[in-house]
Amino acid sequence: MRHFIDFSDLSLAEWEGVYRRFEDILAHPADYRDVARGQVMGSLFFEPSTRTNFSFQAAMQRLGGGVFSMSDPSATSVSKGETLSDTIVMCSGYADLLIVRHPREGAAMASSLYSRVPVVNAGDGGHLHPTQTLIDLAAITRRRGSVSGLHIGVCGDLKYGRTAHSLIRALASFPGLSLSLISPRELAIPEYLRMFLRACGQACMETSSLEDTLPHLDVLYMTRIQHERLADPSAYDRLRGVYVLTTDKLSAAKRDLLILHPLPRREEISVEVDRDPRAFYFEQARLGMYVRMALLTHLLEQPRGDLPPPPDSHNHGHNNGHSQGQGQGHSHGRGHPSFVCANPRCIAASERYLPALSDGKRCLYCDN
Ligand code: NCD
Repeated sequence: MRHFIDFSDLSLAEWEGVYRRFEDILAHPADYRDVARGQVMGSLFFEPSTRTNFSFQAAMQRLGGGVFSMSDPSATSVSKGETLSDTIVMCSGYADLLIVRHPREGAAMASSLYSRVPVVNAGDGGHLHPTQTLIDLAAITRRRGSVSGLHIGVCGDLKYGRTAHSLIRALASFPGLSLSLISPRELAIPEYLRMFLRACGQACMETSSLEDTLPHLDVLYMTRIQHERLADPSAYDRLRGVYVLTTDKLSAAKRDLLILHPLPRREEISVEVDRDPRAFYFEQARLGMYVRMALLTHLLEQPRGDLPPPPDSHNHGHNNGHSQGQGQGHSHGRGHPSFVCANPRCIAASERYLPALSDGKRCLYCDN
């Protein structure tokens, strides 16, 4: 059984297959309307969403499948204090695939330990958002023919922006591209990501100047300041206007620049830019449904194998290819050491029954 927690859960060849399928779905949508007939997608959104939630639901429905969804945790037993693991065990018994968005880093990985069906990470706190990355890569490939060899600038909140993290991580798998990371110093990429790029040999330039970088870019990926994740919410007023893309600034950019944004936008792209032919973000969001259709068909056609044994005190059914290491913590009588991550935003800091998942250097739920 295959989960999709990070872009690296697909090989590059598989990604190319998903991309070809996406193009085929766009060209021949009617050919796909019965592909998921009789299958059900559980859509579990523990955090607000517009595009991701609706485009996944529409994608499954356009494939002929059914959907049940939670978009307001207060309307479910989550509000009664049900654990994430219990919610996942239950819902995975009703679905063929689960889409999980959660405010805590590592929540999708944790969910995959307890699920009987593939789990798709639809955003785990300020950590990763790999299905948005598929959309970003598809938008770039569709417009520019390829991702390799381009100069890509990622701008905005690179500390808490999960779409930026996932994209940056994925870009390191494509040869010959230049990467510029544009952020205020206090919102620079997390150290684990810097180490990841170094380990991959992906050169990148970290800068705080959009103006200096813009003329060199083939792709500009703008992101908003994640005000809801800032450690000090009052910093938002200081940071919000730090990057504002205007038509004036764009006069210095390449004529074939591609401007992307995962949306929602705040003030970082002025509305006048929407009319510039280089603005692609609304089309990017529209394409997202087709990319998600392609991903769903790919995951649903994977051999399911044996159902993992029901999660009990000894076995967590984890099969995502990550090693279970020894974390800190102590045995509390459930057959495995409890694990409490030192990162307060990690799922393993709040759900304190999770098994240790560590490679000895970092927590494999949240990467910290
Ligand atoms: C993003 C998200 O939720 O991370 N939106 C999306 O899924 N397209 C971006 C954001 O919230 O800033």
